Amino acid sequence: MSADETAITIVLGTRPEIIKLAPVIDACEQSDVGYSVIHTGQHYSDELDTVFFDQLELPTPDHNLAIGSGSHSSQTGAMIGAIEEVLLDESPDVVLVQGDTNSVLAGSVAASKLDCEVGHVEAGLRSFDRSMPEEINRVFADHAADHLFAPTEQAAQYLREEGIPVERITVTGNTIVDAVTCYRDLAAEKSRVLDSHDLSPDEFCLLTAHRAENVDDPERFSSLLRGVAEFAARSGFDVIYPVHPRARDRIDAFDIDVPDEVRLTEAQDFLDFLRLESTARLVFTDSGGVQEEACILGTPCVTLRDNTERPETVAVGANRIVGVEPAEIVAGAREALDTPTDWENPFGDGRSAERILDAVGLGPVVSVEGVTG
Ligand code: UD1
Ligand code: UDP
Repeated sequence: MSADETAITIVLGTRPEIIKLAPVIDACEQSDVGYSVIHTGQHYSDELDTVFFDQLELPTPDHNLAIGSGSHSSQTGAMIGAIEEVLLDESPDVVLVQGDTNSVLAGSVAASKLDCEVGHVEAGLRSFDRSMPEEINRVFADHAADHLFAPTEQAAQYLREEGIPVERITVTGNTIVDAVTCYRDLAAEKSRVLDSHDLSPDEFCLLTAHRAENVDDPERFSSLLRGVAEFAARSGFDVIYPVHPRARDRIDAFDIDVPDEVRLTEAQDFLDFLRLESTARLVFTDSGGVQEEACILGTPCVTLRDNTERPETVAVGANRIVGVEPAEIVAGAREALDTPTDWENPFGDGRSAERILDAVGLGPVVSVEGVTG
């Protein structure tokens, strides 16, 4: 905790939350706001967790609840009880959650039952696919929140359409722009990832796939790998796939035949991953954050899903939603190769964290105007 009084308690638990809340933690430090961090322990493997605290120079969380993996309800339920205990002790004014994971659902439920306000960072995203656990989590979090930090005007519009009072909604941009702006040059200077994997800029494609709807279904998982491999074989590009532990687990459990064209490697730290994203000719992904980062970095993206809650990336021409059928993947990738990459970043100007503190009456360091997305 950085000051005597806890004004803000930040709840996080997974890789993307650590990365996207790093700018908010930094803004609290800069403006001397009293804050504490609760880590739920949803992610605990070094490659999804401590590597980011070390590289982004974040303070060790004040509380690590060490909840670990589990079924949705047992994991979420355990988190709610443990978060409540900390909040009862600390009585923060505002509890911040980010995104759409089970940690977000747990943080917003626990906080909304107590005398603290809930702030949802990255509010208003909708895939309109209620079979995805993330969609359920983000809808619950939005409707529990007192402060909704929408990354774009489109997200704010979805919230208004669901009847959320306008005075609760602030369009802030997405904190991932703050993080990418802060680290992309450092990644270019420091990262040796291209050399260590024998890759040349613009001559390889980057793949990530970890979403439950893809990797928990052996047919879909095999199909998407076949599609990417087919494109690689026809185009001559190398493909590198840093593997999330969930996907690694499913490859082993289902005995998935990974085609030779797809080079598996361990999950990367943030600087190495940013370097791969910036220099890849194309990105194939089912990740939400990777769709955004590819768009911000000017790398064409092919999304291996049937929908996206990031329609802004498609609207500016940075992203194609192709599903997992090999023919669609190959066609989408070919089209993406021919796309001009001078689209505008729809996710803001990199000052989202300041706007978030401003909106809860605790900042900013420098006054900033709202963004329109
Ligand atoms: C979670 C989020 C997903 C997000 C992803 C970010 C939910 C419902 N899902 O998915 O929205 O895109 O984080 O990466 O919240 N495991 C490890 N080490 C870890 C964590 C998990 O090996 O540190 C393995 C375990 O086998 C575990 C599996 O990954 O059972 C799934 O972990 P879990 O946290 O349930 O979901 P993610 O797939 O990581
Ligand atoms: N990321 C990373 N190393 C990797 C893969 C992803 O640092 O090997 C980062 C990526 O830069 C992005 C975030 O992880 O900021 C995305 O997280 P993930 O894909 O796990 O979750 P999602 O965004 O789909 O919820």
